[in-house]
Amino acid sequence: MARSQPKFDAIFAGLTILDIAGRPVTSIPDGGGIAFIDEIRMNPAGTASGAVMNAAKLGLRCSTSACVGKDEKGDFIVDQYKRMGIDCSLIQRTEAVATSATILPIRPNGERPALHCRGASDEWFVSDEAFDSVCSARYLHHGGTGFLARMDEGQSAKLLAHAKRQGLTITMDLIGPTDKTVDQLAALLPAVDYFMPSMEEAEFISGRSQPGEAAKFFKDLGATTCIFKWGDRGSFISTDDDDWRMPAFKVDVSDTTGCGDSYCGGFIAGLSMGYDLEQACRLGTAVSGLVATGLGSDAGVVDLEQTLAFIETATTLDV
Ligand SMILES: Nc1ncnc2c1ncn2[C@@H]1O[C@H](COP(=O)(O)OP(=O)(O)OP(=O)(O)O)[C@@H](O)[C@H]1O
Ligand SMILES: [Mg+2]
Repeated sequence: MARSQPKFDAIFAGLTILDIAGRPVTSIPDGGGIAFIDEIRMNPAGTASGAVMNAAKLGLRCSTSACVGKDEKGDFIVDQYKRMGIDCSLIQRTEAVATSATILPIRPNGERPALHCRGASDEWFVSDEAFDSVCSARYLHHGGTGFLARMDEGQSAKLLAHAKRQGLTITMDLIGPTDKTVDQLAALLPAVDYFMPSMEEAEFISGRSQPGEAAKFFKDLGATTCIFKWGDRGSFISTDDDDWRMPAFKVDVSDTTGCGDSYCGGFIAGLSMGYDLEQACRLGTAVSGLVATGLGSDAGVVDLEQTLAFIETATTLDV
């Protein structure tokens, strides 16, 4: 039976966190001491959240399937999403645990050590009956494998297989890989069109330090195309017949939290607007570069017009 008209351009499913970030932090004061810093910000974040917020800013009709607590952190995330025009009808609220949250003391060079408290994202669960509602889009982004306890047990693989049968284009990112991740990916990747971990994660999981070799590993597991986000080196893209690196844009780095998540949001926005692979990666690169200029996963990006103007004027980083 033909699928009914999808409700959204893209649905972003998975890890949703409240981030509280402060910068610059060089050390924690001794004992009960106090240190003064320039800036503290609170914002939604996470592999699904950092992607959906930036895709919405670029003008996509977005929804998100996630679980947050019935607490002040969950209220804040939902309020922020509503202000950004993100559909919240698929968001689950649990009383069992608090919203997943992270404290980020950002170093002067933009690096972000994280103190993470796992929570409601581990409770996120999409039952078979709800698959169709999470697939009412042209694109499905699944983000956060590794920090999604209930879905990581096999249900995410069922969801992605369903989405593929429904004809969606599927993108995927993960976080915090362990020695269990390969088995999870073996079930997930056959449905994945664009696998988008960081290079560091790709190397850890595949045991291969050459990006082309690592990409082959994931393509052998079923991924169609690999895009490895590579910090200030930009990103490495590997299709069936081509491998290349797209450099990052030169920016004044303030905080790189959520750069990888936001890259995915920009990339999906590009695909959804009909961009080819290279143009979509460039949009992702621009969004992630802009996010690096401000504190938080949604900082720096205003809208599509500003991002395209940035691409026109920015220079690339030669590293
Ligand atoms: N120092 C930098 N200068 C310019 N661009 C950067 C810098 N660091 C990161 N980026 C951009 O951000 C993108 C993603 O960064 P990164 O490799 O840190 O992802 P990640 O580790 O998945 O991040 P996260 O999971 O925290 O969102 C890069 O592909 C690049 O375009
Ligand atoms: Mg990442």
